[in-house]
Amino acid sequence: MPISIKDKVIVVTGGAGEIGSSLCRRLVDEGAAVVMVDIADGREIAAEIKKAKRGNKIVFVKADVTSEKDMAKMAAAALKNFGRIDAIVNNAGLFTACPWDDLTYDEWKKRLRVNVDGTYLATRAVVPAMREQGKGKIINIGSDTVWMGTPGFVHYVTSKAAVLGMTRALANELGPHGITTCYVTPTLLDTPGTRAAFQQGHFDYVLSHTPIGKFEKPEDVNGLIVFLCSDDADFINGAAINIGGGISMH
Ligand SMILES: NC(=O)c1ccc[n+]([C@@H]2O[C@H](COP(=O)([O-])OP(=O)(O)OC[C@H]3O[C@@H](n4cnc5c(N)ncnc54)[C@H](O)[C@@H]3O)[C@@H](O)[C@H]2O)c1
Repeated sequence: MPISIKDKVIVVTGGAGEIGSSLCRRLVDEGAAVVMVDIADGREIAAEIKKAKRGNKIVFVKADVTSEKDMAKMAAAALKNFGRIDAIVNNAGLFTACPWDDLTYDEWKKRLRVNVDGTYLATRAVVPAMREQGKGKIINIGSDTVWMGTPGFVHYVTSKAAVLGMTRALANELGPHGITTCYVTPTLLDTPGTRAAFQQGHFDYVLSHTPIGKFEKPEDVNGLIVFLCSDDADFINGAAINIGGGISMH
């Protein structure tokens, strides 16, 4: 039997972003029903996915992952449109560089609020449906900066390390309810967004330390997520899996 996510209902937070929108396209292509969640307007992307041969199984929900109210709205929209929630990909995040000397407490709090509180609140909103189903998958998008302690990213590394801890604790606590939790770590991608946000030196470092000798693209993240959303991954719980071409080998 091939790996299948056909008719799985999958929530993707940060779904209008670079990784998120690529993932939403792929999930719909694979036959899943997708709830694309973003604080930015993702209506056009969702409409394009619907139009481009990909079927009708995507809804966009404009919502802030740091808002309890919005996350309740997100879960309600998923249930209203598709009747269940099989998986959530906690992908919404703020990814910026800021040297320690320039880091303000406000900047620190902003990053932790979205990356940590947002992951918690989005997860909390979908767990009741998963418990009722006796099955669900929580997939947290982390970062390999956690393995490397990348300098210039203390706020970001801290936030993503917190999500790794959350992943392991949830794997233990929700596992008995049939809900698995995993953590996946892309490395620095080469995209218009990262090119605008990071310096050439970051890219040079990544390329020269990546054994397979090329940059990661959003599409490179998708396959693992498809697999983790499938029934074939039912026994994978509490795992942290690298998608970084071998730059870190945790
Ligand atoms: N791009 C990379 O190189 C890279 C590497 C490792 C990990 N990551 C992680 O991958 C994830 C996606 O990153 P990306 O590169 O696609 O970035 P992106 O900026 O293109 O996408 C992030 C999305 O999250 C949304 N978002 C931000 N705050 C939100 C909030 N409060 N509520 C709802 N949505 C919110 C943004 O609007 C955006 O659409 C992030 O968690 C990031 O940390 C990215």
